[in-house]
Amino acid sequence: MVCLGNICRSPLAEGILKRKLIENAKDWEVDSAGTSAYHQGALPDDRSIVIADAYQLDIRDQRSRKVRPEDLNYFDHIFAMDSSNYQDLVAICNDDHQRAKIMMIMNMAEPNLNINVPDPYWGNDGFDLVYKMLDKACEAIVHKL
Ligand code: 4NP
Repeated sequence: MVCLGNICRSPLAEGILKRKLIENAKDWEVDSAGTSAYHQGALPDDRSIVIADAYQLDIRDQRSRKVRPEDLNYFDHIFAMDSSNYQDLVAICNDDHQRAKIMMIMNMAEPNLNINVPDPYWGNDGFDLVYKMLDKACEAIVHKL
């Protein structure tokens, strides 16, 4: 799960998908990262922690990190939250095999529409929408992959 800062959107995506995997008895490995290192080592944003809490989800164990080149080999699927994250990821790929792993996350729920999960960092009101969008995308991931 990849966004820009790895403090708002992708920590929610990681937490939501991990819970769904437990509920569906699947033992896939899930991690999240940012295309930037702006918040390296930081907890998720307070507003993401609060919205996760509202859905009885605890994401306080997560710490921000930057995407590593080896992630593109290690993981089978890499989900970008928006088109900017998608382009930044494609730009660090070495080959078509890596490129083929990268997908805009909302395309799992609504194929081919290239819908962005909006960056909620600069406002205060986007977090519930982000949660609901990611919940829908993660539900599709669990059942389609
Ligand atoms: P995220 O949100 O990519 O969903 O974690 C952001 C976090 C930090 C910044 C931008 C977006 N920032 O510019 O520091």
